[in-house]
Amino acid sequence: MTDRYVVFGNPVSHSKSPLIHAEFARQAGQSIDYAAQLVPLDGFAAAVNAFRATAGRGANVTVPFKEEAYRLADTLSARATAAKAVNTLSFHEDGIDGDNTDGVGLVTDLQHNLDCEISGKRVLLVGAGGAARGVILPLLDAQPQQLVIANRTAPKAHALHEEFTQVLRDMGLPHAAALLADCELSALAGQRFDIVINATAASLTDQAPALPPGIYATGSLAYDMVYGKGLTPFLLAAQAQGAAQLADGLGMLVEQAAESFFVWRGVRPQTAPVLKLLRSQ
Ligand code: ATR
Repeated sequence: MTDRYVVFGNPVSHSKSPLIHAEFARQAGQSIDYAAQLVPLDGFAAAVNAFRATAGRGANVTVPFKEEAYRLADTLSARATAAKAVNTLSFHEDGIDGDNTDGVGLVTDLQHNLDCEISGKRVLLVGAGGAARGVILPLLDAQPQQLVIANRTAPKAHALHEEFTQVLRDMGLPHAAALLADCELSALAGQRFDIVINATAASLTDQAPALPPGIYATGSLAYDMVYGKGLTPFLLAAQAQGAAQLADGLGMLVEQAAESFFVWRGVRPQTAPVLKLLRSQ
């Protein structure tokens, strides 16, 4: 029987994951069935259980169920534990494994697809919600000179900084904790960054976070985790401010999918042709 996978979300009809995973499977010469399933807001656990009962092997989880998936999993990877969110579920006879591939997806996209070295760079992460939380450890893993978290609601950035400082100390990584800082948006004035990542939900409502002018260093990259048609307001503002390179989150989407595929199937797919295919659509 063909192994079955699914992406659970609400909304989910726009999801590119079925296409991406079909391409990965074709590349690997594997036969899988990957569908998108719209789940009622109060029906996530029921949908997971029903899918498992029909021999489902794994699931991706998207908005707004990542925190619920985190709570539902029986075992969690270290990166899911730190993110407190799960985007990849693997179903076994004796339970559900939860993982989070979003952060590694972002870092892989930056380093491999965009040729953007993170090591030694000053990185600004804007936002303090789930999207920001998921990428903090993988970004620190890449050894930036500093990772500054800034958020419209400044105390949330501070709380996230404190929480991850503790997580890193508990992991025996005090040197990584020392790279982390937080800052109010307005207090970014006068600071310069090599990489500015928009992890806020602002683009979804066609808005941009209120970043002060002058934060883009020479040769800097602006990255929006959101993707869609054309440049987001954040990327337009970055362009006007002199950011040298602009990137949306399509590469992150493909790279997180590749990592999920690896978790499930033990094969690391080639992402470049799939990203090219999506860009051409
Ligand atoms: P997600 O899981 O996508 O991160 P979330 O947990 O609701 O979603 O967090 C949304 C993030 O986007 C928050 O950092 C939020 O800032 P606040 O904490 O101040 O609410 C940020 N955000 C949303 N709209 C924004 C806007 N127009 N300008 C700046 N930040 C915005």
